[in-house]
Amino acid sequence: MIDISHLWNRAHPHLQPMATTLPVSLEPMQDCGLCGQASAFRVVAHVRFGDGHWQGNSHVLYCVQCGKWFLPEDQLPSVDARPTAVDARLWSRSPTFLNIEPTTRCNFNCWYCVGRHMEQKDITVEDFGRVLDNFPTIKTIALVGEGEPLMHKQFFKMVRMAVGRGIRVVSLSNGSTFSSSNVKKICEAGITYISVSIDSFDAATFAASRIGGDLTQVLTGIKRLADYRDAHGFHYPRIGLKGTLFGHTQDQIPGIVALAAAHGVEIFESFQPLNPMSTYVPIYPAANRQALDKGELGQVATAIQRDSVQAVSQLKSVSQFCDEEGIALGKNGQANGLRPNCDEEWVYALLSGDVTPCCQIKTPISPNWNLAKKTIDEVLADALYENTRFNLWNGLFPDYCKGCHKIGG
Ligand SMILES: C[S@@+](CC[C@H](N)C(=O)[O-])C[C@H]1O[C@@H](n2cnc3c(N)ncnc32)[C@H](O)[C@@H]1O
Ligand code: SF4
Repeated sequence: MIDISHLWNRAHPHLQPMATTLPVSLEPMQDCGLCGQASAFRVVAHVRFGDGHWQGNSHVLYCVQCGKWFLPEDQLPSVDARPTAVDARLWSRSPTFLNIEPTTRCNFNCWYCVGRHMEQKDITVEDFGRVLDNFPTIKTIALVGEGEPLMHKQFFKMVRMAVGRGIRVVSLSNGSTFSSSNVKKICEAGITYISVSIDSFDAATFAASRIGGDLTQVLTGIKRLADYRDAHGFHYPRIGLKGTLFGHTQDQIPGIVALAAAHGVEIFESFQPLNPMSTYVPIYPAANRQALDKGELGQVATAIQRDSVQAVSQLKSVSQFCDEEGIALGKNGQANGLRPNCDEEWVYALLSGDVTPCCQIKTPISPNWNLAKKTIDEVLADALYENTRFNLWNGLFPDYCKGCHKIGG
């Protein structure tokens, strides 16, 4: 093994496994070439050799005991090749996709929604404008968060601000407010894509999780939107489908897809099981916690995987839609393929403007990551931001990720 610690520390000394990471799972530790102990694990990095060529996605070992970085001999392109540089920043350095939360307010009261337990607030239009100013390379913005975006009184003003700068706008809605006046505004404002969450094809079952929601009203609203769009010659918005499934609804995707398609939905985005993260669980009513049973969650995930394959033969997949529309969701680099990781390359911000590492993390991590106050370049260059991306990219999860399905095991 070749000790490349000097190369690592010259390139990016701040990229280090976080002290708070959960155990590296699913991979036996390897023997360290220096201390001989089974205390080394693999991360992914590009490595340059003496002839100047970069070898992409090489496996670099880090020894927890020695705190050193090594390149195993089997990663050398030839026996006499010697590494001269390393770069572990494999994710996109110029993101173009921003997800920002417009509001935490909502007219539904879904029992699983953390938004109902957060401060009920809207992003200010001024902060929204500052975020756009500070992130001039955005190509697509998702107005999505832990509330109902259309509840924001200036939702359409924000859409127009973004569209006016040439930014595509996409959103996710509970579908309850597609009134005649709103469908006109949605079309005229130029929203490219809006998906609607539907948890069940049965009205009573729908209302049991989407508390305060009425399935017929949602379906009628979707049809109203599709009809208005088509009758008035608008190409957008295209309409997508999302939802959350439980043990008792795990086989409902085909039925939901059929019903949604009959009302104008044409894109299958995704379904998800109940979120088992430790930051979500305390808000679930005790009577609903049996849905967190590992066996049941696993079964729901398997059913979703199975039925999603069938669903995308009936509806367009969201990735096909993005490809057709030239919406780059960002997958420029290759995350560590050896274990579950977070390979999202888009930027997620709370309504405060604070960037968080992922849409499941609802508390700001650093004051230096606020897009209403800092430019995207400043956020991206922040050492903690980079190290967080590095850790997530390699499946080295900070404690706040506990319970996330991506941790595996
Ligand atoms: C938080 S909602 C916000 C947007 C909009 N109000 C809606 O309901 O679609 C976004 C999506 O997350 C899902 N969701 C929210 N909380 C969840 C949880 N604890 N577990 C699983 N899915 C959840 C919802 O079903 C919905 O599809
Ligand atoms: S509709 Fe969306 S934001 Fe509203 S309570 Fe349900 S999941 Fe939360």
